[in-house]
Amino acid sequence: MTTKQLDEQYIAHTYARFPVELVSGEGSLVRDSEGREYIDMGTGIAVNTFGVADKEWAAAVTAQLGQLQHASNLYYTGPGPRLAQMLCQASGMKKVFFGNSGAEANECAIKAARKYAQTKKDPEYYNIITLKNSFHGRTLTTLAATGQDVFHTQFTPLTPGFLYADPADPESLAALVKDNKVAAIMFEAVQGEGGVLPLPGDFVQAMKDIAAAEDILLIADEVQCGNGRTGKMYGYMDLGVTPDIVTTAKGLGGGLPIGACMLGDKVADVFTYGDHGSTFGANPAVCAGAINIMSRLTEDVLAGVRERSKLVFGSLTGAPGVKSVTGMGLMIGIETEKPAADVVAACRDRGVLVITAKSKVRLLPALNIPMDLLEKALAVIKEACV
Ligand SMILES: Cc1ncc(COP(=O)(O)O)c(C=O)c1O
Repeated sequence: MTTKQLDEQYIAHTYARFPVELVSGEGSLVRDSEGREYIDMGTGIAVNTFGVADKEWAAAVTAQLGQLQHASNLYYTGPGPRLAQMLCQASGMKKVFFGNSGAEANECAIKAARKYAQTKKDPEYYNIITLKNSFHGRTLTTLAATGQDVFHTQFTPLTPGFLYADPADPESLAALVKDNKVAAIMFEAVQGEGGVLPLPGDFVQAMKDIAAAEDILLIADEVQCGNGRTGKMYGYMDLGVTPDIVTTAKGLGGGLPIGACMLGDKVADVFTYGDHGSTFGANPAVCAGAINIMSRLTEDVLAGVRERSKLVFGSLTGAPGVKSVTGMGLMIGIETEKPAADVVAACRDRGVLVITAKSKVRLLPALNIPMDLLEKALAVIKEACV
């Protein structure tokens, strides 16, 4: 049987896949099972930070694999704490819990916020405000956090205690806080799955004011927009917000599963032994790869992201067939006149892999995509839009 036939028969039908089997690649070029080469503008949904089969990252992971691939959290192992130190230095947070995905990082953040508020205030302070159109994961609790009904139907009842503010209406936040006991507000600096939409400035201001006035924790979900993707280390750094908890995943691992929940001053010591756990959390090989990624997210690389971003916005804004371009850094949404799916297919036929976000075409290239490949990809995308 072919891969496609095996997949159809034995993999649960939760993914509508593109008709391509990817087998190998190098940097921003990937190849399919028929030997066709593509420029990769999706990086496995913001995961392959420095592209495919990146040699430095692969060497770091393989060196660790040759020593000790896993030990469990019953023992000390070197890479986890070293990575945690790097994350704290990059974010100003104080302690880190490692899981294996974005959803798990957010689950941990929600537990930390609830424990903090319930201990400090009273047990009814369990509510978490998230935003309409947000995306925070697929577990039943992070689905509840996700402010999009389309993901909820047929999976109810979800975890209770989630309320949704409208990012277009900052006053919706005050109304929710007035009527409910709120532990935390969780936000994405740029809503990724929601259509690559940066958080409006007036909502950010309202969120900061109310969080400070009411001792409500701010949780920045940096699963997609973190790790250099926006041109800063974390997306919130462009908003002038100091979160109490930062979650990240995706690009931190560079291609292997990891989730990190970073705890700031207020919540650094909220957990005690036994409060939370994960068999694979802080896996040494995954953390060795993430250390390599973190060590390369230098100011030069971030400046390169901003430079590439300018090129993309400059090239696509106002192009024929393009209605609007949104996003930050190398997290870009293109509203097209044609249906996004048609543009994605036309790009693929011409050797460029792009993805969608709701009704938009989404670009999430490697942070170090060579300029000539980026220019080639943009020319193809523009052709596909008309
Ligand atoms: C902002 C955000 N949070 C959380 C998640 C969930 O991450 P994961 O799929 O690793 O559980 C995603 C995934 O797309 C995301 O974009």
